[in-house]
Amino acid sequence: MLEKIGMPGFETLSAPDATVLRLLDEILSVNPAPVVYEIGVGVGATTVEIAARMANGGQLLLFSREADVVELARDLRARGFSNVVDAWGSPGNTYSGYHFELARGFVADALPRFDLAYVDGGHVFHLDAAAASVLKELCRPGGFMIFDDWNWSLAKSPTQNPSVRSATARDYDPRQIEASHVQLVCKAIMDPDPRYEFVVLEGQSAVYRRREVSPAT
Ligand SMILES: C[S@@+](CC[C@H](N)C(=O)[O-])C[C@H]1O[C@@H](n2cnc3c(N)ncnc32)[C@H](O)[C@@H]1O
Repeated sequence: MLEKIGMPGFETLSAPDATVLRLLDEILSVNPAPVVYEIGVGVGATTVEIAARMANGGQLLLFSREADVVELARDLRARGFSNVVDAWGSPGNTYSGYHFELARGFVADALPRFDLAYVDGGHVFHLDAAAASVLKELCRPGGFMIFDDWNWSLAKSPTQNPSVRSATARDYDPRQIEASHVQLVCKAIMDPDPRYEFVVLEGQSAVYRRREVSPAT
């Protein structure tokens, strides 16, 4: 998996996310053993940098298609990173995904509370609204949630717009094709929740932080 970084065809997946690494450095300066979730791994460009910074402290949980998670974790172990958890990959079925694995893990009390979650998966509302709803319950006070691709839409996607993928026009209506689903998730699921503060929109990444003390309801 990691050998794909920088190779032709993987250009858009080859740069690590700067906001994730900046916030991780901030967390590591006070907590050498944080719990980090990456939701959607691509070819591991951000994952490998996260693992290097964590230097085997804490836990790095990967949520993506299971074949990718297993291959990436194997590559990372071969580089000496032993704190990568590959138990949360999802099958390749149409309606399978990290949203379901998160809910399953939360209900079973099988997922550790996290300090940082990087949400960079399918970027569509039905996946990410569900994922965000569960992630909000798993975030430690003071922890961060980062939503990537603020301006992404199916219409703008070079691989998913209806002119290159006809199924998109069948699966989504025209409003869904034009909309930024990440913005909808943030505005519908994150902004109304008084436990969370919006920190910054940095490039394409919206950053939320769980307040140390939840406001009285
Ligand atoms: C943009 S890439 C992630 C890039 C990566 N975070 C990075 O920084 O390099 C999106 C990832 O989400 C995964 N993904 C999309 N839909 C998914 C689903 N329903 N279940 C699991 N993984 C999914 C894709 O397979 C892909 O690995």
